[in-house]
Amino acid sequence: MALFPTYNRYQLSVKSADGTIVKNVEGKEYLDFGTGIGVCNLGHRHPVVQQSIEKQLKEYWHVSNLYHSPIQDIVAEAITKNSPGDNVFFCNSGAEANEAAIKLARKVTGKEKIITFNQSFHGRTFATMAATGQEKVREGFGPMLQSFAYAIFNDIESVKQQIDQNTAAVMLEVVQGEGGVFPANQTFVNDLVQLCNEKDILVIIDEIQTGIGRTGKKFGFEHYGIEPDIFTLAKGLGNGLPVGAMVAKRKYAEGFGPGAHGSTFGGNPVAMAAAKAVVSTVFDDVFLNEVTEKANYLSEQLVKEINPLNIVKEIRQKGLMVGIDCGKNVSHIVPKLMEKGLLVLSAGENVIRLLPPLTVSTGEIDQAVSIMKETLETV
Ligand SMILES: Cc1ncc(COP(=O)(O)O)c(C=O)c1O
Repeated sequence: MALFPTYNRYQLSVKSADGTIVKNVEGKEYLDFGTGIGVCNLGHRHPVVQQSIEKQLKEYWHVSNLYHSPIQDIVAEAITKNSPGDNVFFCNSGAEANEAAIKLARKVTGKEKIITFNQSFHGRTFATMAATGQEKVREGFGPMLQSFAYAIFNDIESVKQQIDQNTAAVMLEVVQGEGGVFPANQTFVNDLVQLCNEKDILVIIDEIQTGIGRTGKKFGFEHYGIEPDIFTLAKGLGNGLPVGAMVAKRKYAEGFGPGAHGSTFGGNPVAMAAAKAVVSTVFDDVFLNEVTEKANYLSEQLVKEINPLNIVKEIRQKGLMVGIDCGKNVSHIVPKLMEKGLLVLSAGENVIRLLPPLTVSTGEIDQAVSIMKETLETV
């Protein structure tokens, strides 16, 4: 094996993928309800995305950010027209987008402390590891970047206890993804935003998993009626091509003046071509209403078929982001579902996580629910 053993990989070698279906090298088909960890929101090789990439491949692949790439402006405008943000910094991953958000927040406030939450996940670079409220992610890497503090999710008093004169920002996932699919409470979010406004603290929303239609809205924060100062995107933005984005209000633009931050590959034209097709498809009310209808259908099926099973403790859902909490370790269940042709994810230790493509059909939902029912009945 020439690769680092960084991942415990499942016994599946991929040959091809199309829509909701992944095929292995032997030709076996799987229903993909994990979408590459919430990335292929439009399904695999969505034709509009593919056409856009192919067109760009024939024009140019990379020239660096020393020159203008008009396709970056098109994607940035699509994001800012559809959000409270005004300026976009493009990078290549979720961790990089959060890294940029943390740097910008420190720079524009002149303060250092960033408050995040227990069970949060923000990435694996040094700053984003420090931001992540999970001890196991930080273990073994020596001293972390200083000035991060962890509050209790959905508990405004614990945030108040962490705030001091040096607090630059609070960083939040409106639905904690990796931590176990935990949606934030409306009152908690209201109180948090009010508190941050009163104390001149920036609100950073990590939309890396919840953004780009995943919850039935363009961005997850829309469910809560709030406007973050900064938010971050990645995963679904490129539908499989690596791209991240940090989006902020105009008043913070000067914090990232020339030389303050950068990335050789950030805003790569081929990744931008994918993102352009994604945003033009997803930022559409008809499309998003269909996502919500599918999410409602999935919810009905889960309530009817899966919730009554003995093993299931609770089902949590926001749009097409679902956590089936089994109250005990699910690591043996995920491969069993895979054997039966259904790819799912886990979240935390006890939660089966479903992130189907937003383009999933009701027939595919029925098939997935039936495989889950049959499997969860016997484990
Ligand atoms: C909410 C959230 N933030 C940040 C990240 C890190 O993204 P990446 O793996 O692209 O660096 C993830 C990845 O799972 C995530 O779910």
